[in-house]
Amino acid sequence: MITIAIAKGRMQDSALALLARAGIRLSQDAINSRRLALMDETNQYRFIFVKPADVPVYVEHGIADCGVVGRDVLLESEADLLLPLDLGIARCRIVVAAADPEAMTKVQGMLRVATKYSQIASAHFGARGIPVEIIQLSGSVELGPALGLADVIVDLVETGETLRENGLKVVEEIAESTGRLVVNRASYQLKTEEVLQLLDALRTVK
Ligand code: PRP
Repeated sequence: MITIAIAKGRMQDSALALLARAGIRLSQDAINSRRLALMDETNQYRFIFVKPADVPVYVEHGIADCGVVGRDVLLESEADLLLPLDLGIARCRIVVAAADPEAMTKVQGMLRVATKYSQIASAHFGARGIPVEIIQLSGSVELGPALGLADVIVDLVETGETLRENGLKVVEEIAESTGRLVVNRASYQLKTEEVLQLLDALRTVK
């Protein structure tokens, strides 16, 4: 049996749709239930549904053999994982956004950056030699500039709707993010055949 950790939220529906196309299906009853661990219809795969940032943790510790999670989360994580497959799902961008597109050049001193992605933001501004104060938030980051907490934000953009509705514009693009299949190192050694079977099934439908 292979255990797959799925990131709850924006990734979940597209991950389950892709797995279903690969022949790995959960019953609708199971999907509709609030159970956080479910077997697929063939009892070959167990799914656990966890917060995106916890997927690398479960996979690194071998609780899950594999995981489906966004590149955005992996860039923030220091987990040691095999990253064998870009699934091409839940495509979005990680951007710098601000109310005033000139914000970055106008600010005197430290640029205040509100974000859920402190590693990505630090690396981005660090590489460009821009001194920043990172203000770590866990959600609703788009409020930061309007309320005077930050000059800019670093966040995910998919449709652009959240930025637009909060009067923000993209200033710079940092990276693209898509859903990735990650694999535990030991599982790859110990369950090679099952992991390769999963990879092949996903590769043919992605
Ligand atoms: C992300 C991101 C934005 C929104 C962007 O949050 O932080 O708020 O989605 O999407 P849009 O461009 O389509 O409007 P997410 O929904 O992943 O959840 P969170 O804020 O709870 O982390």
